[in-house]
Amino acid sequence: MLGAADGLALACLTFKMRLPFPRAEGTRLPAHAILGAQWGDEGKGKLVDVLAPGYDFVVRFQGGNNAGHTVVVGKETYKFHLLPSGAVQGRRVVIGNGVVVDPRVLVQELDQLEGRGKKVRLLISDRAHVILPYHVSLDGAAEQGKGGGRKIGTTRRGIGPCYADKAARLGVRMMELVDPARFEARLREVYPLKEREMRMWEVPDAPSLESILKDYTPLGARLQRYVADAGEALGAALKGKKRVLLEGAQGLLLDIDHGTYPYVTSSSTVGAAGGSGMGAHHVEGVLGVAKAYATRVGEGPFPTELSSAEGVGKRLLEVGKEFGTTTGRPRRVGWLDLPAMRYTIRVGGITHLALTKLDVLAGLERVEVAVAYQTPKGTLRSFPSDEARLLGARPRYTSVPGWTETAKRVGKGWALSKEAAAYVRFVEKELGIPVVMASVGPARDATITLRRHPFGRA
Ligand code: GDP
Ligand code: IMO
Ligand code: MG
Repeated sequence: MLGAADGLALACLTFKMRLPFPRAEGTRLPAHAILGAQWGDEGKGKLVDVLAPGYDFVVRFQGGNNAGHTVVVGKETYKFHLLPSGAVQGRRVVIGNGVVVDPRVLVQELDQLEGRGKKVRLLISDRAHVILPYHVSLDGAAEQGKGGGRKIGTTRRGIGPCYADKAARLGVRMMELVDPARFEARLREVYPLKEREMRMWEVPDAPSLESILKDYTPLGARLQRYVADAGEALGAALKGKKRVLLEGAQGLLLDIDHGTYPYVTSSSTVGAAGGSGMGAHHVEGVLGVAKAYATRVGEGPFPTELSSAEGVGKRLLEVGKEFGTTTGRPRRVGWLDLPAMRYTIRVGGITHLALTKLDVLAGLERVEVAVAYQTPKGTLRSFPSDEARLLGARPRYTSVPGWTETAKRVGKGWALSKEAAAYVRFVEKELGIPVVMASVGPARDATITLRRHPFGRA
């Protein structure tokens, strides 16, 4: 049945009258997102740094200090776990409501960055949840199999247990952490349950309520000046025609819903709008970042995986320096997986791609690319939802000529060699979306614009 409001809208549509409110289309202002199109560590930090000058705000919207985003500027290397990478370029940085914040790590990161002469203009959502010591302890216990579940190979930063508390409505939020009386009251409410859980899981040296209060109340006081309703601030910024860049962490194949469950992280890596508190219609461009090959850290299916003990796998690990930014663990390596990327392009709403680490493939005679999977039930061009089906899938490879030189200096910039450009074109054609940027080294300037795109400077 139509209501009065529907009637008005219908009438306006029929007679092309103006609605009494501005239409969503008319008020849409640019926000762009950068998302990992694989299993994380694609080079998101580098791309955010390259594009940051074109934005007023850079926003983290999910994950926590499981992330490790690297920015290389000349001889300086910055590794971000919680702060958005746009902090290097002096942008306003926001930690959105979808993030889980370990206050110890955040304070450390702020101190380090300010110690290196960077002024950090930070806003933390009062709704963001706080990682407390019992989350870290419980993450460790789960990884040792004490809870009976599978070993995931997590970063042991307390991410899963903190998001679990958020969903169970047992979380402590930033708005509580920064108010000593509310923090104590909330902790007294939830701690008894956590204590029982830690006892059940035989957590050694379980943190006491008193020790948490003693250590975290000062951290709350230190962070208090940054905490506000970040969604409201971003809404006002967008109205004021400010440009916003949303910095994804992890990758779409690690998404809690769309990833290779249960071998996933515990957040929504697709959830840029929800995790920052802005309407989805604001996000008008999504840049997917993918390596020119593939890597994964931790357990879980990886169809194109190569042995890293020998041959090309060993070479990718060594030349690509594929060791985790957060945990230092060697990353698993393999060929580029196009069925997986067709899938992440769809679930992430990716509109454009950036291909990184092309230089790492230099020197290989041939480069293999998985273009489909062969399964007992036939050929698949996309990623199956069922883990059992994925485990039975064999990649079907196309072999592409390799190159000795990835890019040449042209003036102040770089241009891809003929063979590397042919590889990019092959990927682009298979995926059906434009590869607009290529990265050929960790440095800011080792970045090539291949096609016109809406990201960065307007
Ligand atoms: P993120 O988590 O997606 O930000 O990626 P990480 O920082 O964890 O891992 C990417 C690594 O590759 C970092 O050490 C970067 O400095 C490095 N990197 C980024 N782009 C390139 C590139 O094009 N070539 C090479 N050789 N290294 C790159
Ligand atoms: P960035 O943002 C790569 C992986 C872990 C593990 C799984 C769950 O740097 O790309 P968690 O600690 O999140 O509960 O671990 O997710 N993982 C990442 N892998 N890059 C990351 O972040 C990751 N963050 C988590 O290795 O397999
Ligand atoms: Mg990383």
